[in-house]
Amino acid sequence: MSNPSILILPGDGIGPEVMDQVTRVIDWYGAKRDLAFDVSTDLVGGAAYDAHGVPLHDDTMAKAQEVDAVLLGAVGGPKYDDLDFSVKPERGLLRLRKEMDLFSNLRPAQCFDALADFSSLKKDIVAGLDIMIVRELTSGVYFGEPRGIFEEGNERVGINTQRYTESEIERAARSAFELAMRRNKKVCSMEKANVMESGILWREVVTRVGADYPEVELSHMYADNGAMQLVRAPKQFDVIVTDNLFGDILSDCAAMLTGSLGMLPSASLGAPMANGRPKAMYEPVHGSAPDIAGQGKANPIACMLSFAMALRYSFDQGDEAARLENAIEKVLADGARTADLMGPEGGTPLSTAQMGDAILAALDASL
Ligand code: IPM
Ligand code: MG
Repeated sequence: MSNPSILILPGDGIGPEVMDQVTRVIDWYGAKRDLAFDVSTDLVGGAAYDAHGVPLHDDTMAKAQEVDAVLLGAVGGPKYDDLDFSVKPERGLLRLRKEMDLFSNLRPAQCFDALADFSSLKKDIVAGLDIMIVRELTSGVYFGEPRGIFEEGNERVGINTQRYTESEIERAARSAFELAMRRNKKVCSMEKANVMESGILWREVVTRVGADYPEVELSHMYADNGAMQLVRAPKQFDVIVTDNLFGDILSDCAAMLTGSLGMLPSASLGAPMANGRPKAMYEPVHGSAPDIAGQGKANPIACMLSFAMALRYSFDQGDEAARLENAIEKVLADGARTADLMGPEGGTPLSTAQMGDAILAALDASL
């Protein structure tokens, strides 16, 4: 039987730097755990634009559809700010999400004990935090039609459309309830049913799906209140399910609870493929961080944790995922810090590669 396949799309900014460290971890699993992957690499975002004039080449899109999992670094940067909207780096990422139909975006926000002091919130509010945001990823205002900038009378009008079908809401909700069944059996659904019809439908459909999961406690919140509750008392949540735009915003908010945006992984999952694995793409939640790109100081942990999610959700290797997560927890507990994790007491931060060294050493020590 052939090895499972992974397509790596490092992208722009710090994407390639952090992905280099993930590649070392992938190689480690091949060498030490007899878990070899067929890895190929390609371009996305600004890097693809520079080479092909488009942020995602059709051949790359086709490859992404064929592999068992895609690992993506980050896209975008100031160099591309003035490009036409249709070829901006972000369009490459959105095309992957849409054409692979990755409707369920899992964004776990977990606060490692060693980092509880790094959150902008008080330690007791975030210590032990472990929540999962499920963000609908293929619809809503990101993709709804009509959209565009149109002439209307003597001025222009910018239009985007929030649009959700019942089946789109249903499949996102179902994935949230399934996750909750394996966690603390609580789902909080967030929308704006007080002002948006799409929110009214969202609430109705989530409630209907919830009836299939009587063991799961379902609650509803307006998304603005949800944002407030996330910084007031985040530990009240287990699984949060929400739409594409609210999920984008709420997940950045949740990320900061954990101390650094450099810590947050994500998995974007679609329907099962013929081999039973879900269509899947894994990416850190942080962006391309152009301000520090090329300096070798980015934190590779979010990207590594994204690979851990791939081990768990695509390759059915929950134990090996936990091995990597534990190795990361261990190096943090031992005081390993990249620049984004430096507290007021200072010290010398590790480079991206040195953090990689530390994690590989901890992986070796786990054997
Ligand atoms: C994210 C990012 C993307 C989004 C951008 C880069 C298009 O912010 O994954 O959260 O808005 O979805
Ligand atoms: Mg975002």
